[in-house]
Amino acid sequence: MPGTCVIGLQWGDEAKGKLVDLLTSRFEIVVRYQGGANAGHTVVVGDKTYKLHHVPSGILTPTVMNVVTPGVVINPPTILKEIESLTSQGVAVGKNMLLSDRAHVVFPWHIEEDKLLNVAPAGESIGTTLRGIGPCYRDKVGRAHAIRLGDMLRPDFKSRIEHIVLAKNRLLTGLSGADHVALDAGAIFAEYSGYAEKLRPFVGDTTAYLLDAAEAGKRMLFEGAQGSLLDIDHGTFPYVTSSNSSGVGVSGGSGVPGKWIQKVLGVCKAYSTRVGGGPFPTEQDNPTGEKIRQIGREYGTTTGRPRRCGWFDAVAVRYTTRLSGVDCLAVMMMDVLSHLPEVQICTAYDLDGQRTTRFPSHVDDLRRVQPIYETLPGWNIDVTGIRELAAMPENARRYLNRVSELVGKPVEVVSVGPDRAQTMFAGKVGLVG
Ligand code: GDP
Ligand code: IMO
Ligand code: MG
Repeated sequence: MPGTCVIGLQWGDEAKGKLVDLLTSRFEIVVRYQGGANAGHTVVVGDKTYKLHHVPSGILTPTVMNVVTPGVVINPPTILKEIESLTSQGVAVGKNMLLSDRAHVVFPWHIEEDKLLNVAPAGESIGTTLRGIGPCYRDKVGRAHAIRLGDMLRPDFKSRIEHIVLAKNRLLTGLSGADHVALDAGAIFAEYSGYAEKLRPFVGDTTAYLLDAAEAGKRMLFEGAQGSLLDIDHGTFPYVTSSNSSGVGVSGGSGVPGKWIQKVLGVCKAYSTRVGGGPFPTEQDNPTGEKIRQIGREYGTTTGRPRRCGWFDAVAVRYTTRLSGVDCLAVMMMDVLSHLPEVQICTAYDLDGQRTTRFPSHVDDLRRVQPIYETLPGWNIDVTGIRELAAMPENARRYLNRVSELVGKPVEVVSVGPDRAQTMFAGKVGLVG
């Protein structure tokens, strides 16, 4: 059975890109199955840094096929810029990438809608990436105003744009009042049919491709975007993204049935971060959080926004580990905690005077929880040069063991820096299907 998944267990930016790049050489196909240009996956190889938004992190390994499936929403100018930037850095992008003709397309109206609707019912801003992700997924589910990548290559593309722009101009005027500058269907058609021609060589039926590959026993690595706590159905709604970003989204987004998925590697940071609005029980809005932000360079890959930082939340990660069907954990950024005299782990919540290890289903409850912490001694040693788990300081190993115990899964990968070399594998779990 050929499938392995890399899934973020927190609110995104767990270093999924680094891990996927590192594991890619063991696979034949790397698959992105949800999200879009809201994702920012960083891969550091020597003195080069690559920032990927739609393109799978497998692209840096020349022998691998990179597949973007129907569950992803694609922004044509952004993906073209991404391809251009990769090419200018010497990375070949050609027959090694396939984009689904079923993937929905983000248009300029989606970005305008995102700006106008970036507020949750409770009034707190969701703080989206303003990439038009939510409105594009909404139109996909609504169907009437949706255009897929394959539709851009069909003769009725122009009439579809005209039909939709008529409705969107009314909608956007209603939402923003007199401020709305009317969208010009002719100009949008001219611009986007140009993008369609440039993307044409990459477009195909990825569902058929992956089903053939699965039946032929090819090894596939599924690259999650965002994190499980941002899952539209199981995350901290409404402060979530608009796709199933936990492990439950792999089959739906890619079209590969669950029976082909053998291993799930859950990725988490040694602490927690969140970008945008919404409750974050272990947030340290204080000098400790600021220290983590500075040492970890916790600023968004896509938007440059400072990430909110806090302690590791074992209640949340145990929940997402179970939700995403995780077999083993990769704990990243252990080097960032090295500089703290002591470290804390949230082991349970106090909700209205009751101790609980259940992750609440409603954000109003999540806002009220008081984290119950356990304090562990820091390790106060620079670990960035360590290459074997056995050589990690005793207190760092103690910390990792406690994380594993609380979450209920073994830690199989530990990262101590952005570079490929700064990664240690425990080697117990075979990651290849
Ligand atoms: P992704 O969205 O999950 O792929 O993660 P991002 O790329 O948005 O954010 C992770 C950041 O941490 C990137 O800048 C990585 O280069 C960096 N990184 C990855 N692993 C480590 C690590 O172990 N230590 C440190 N200090 N940085 C890391
Ligand atoms: P990667 O793949 C971190 C967050 C946004 C916002 C919420 C909704 O790099 O881990 P959206 O634009 O998706 O409608 O925003 O989700 N968000 C992310 N946070 N990493 C990401 O991706 C994210 N993608 C979206 O900040 O709170
Ligand atoms: Mg990111």
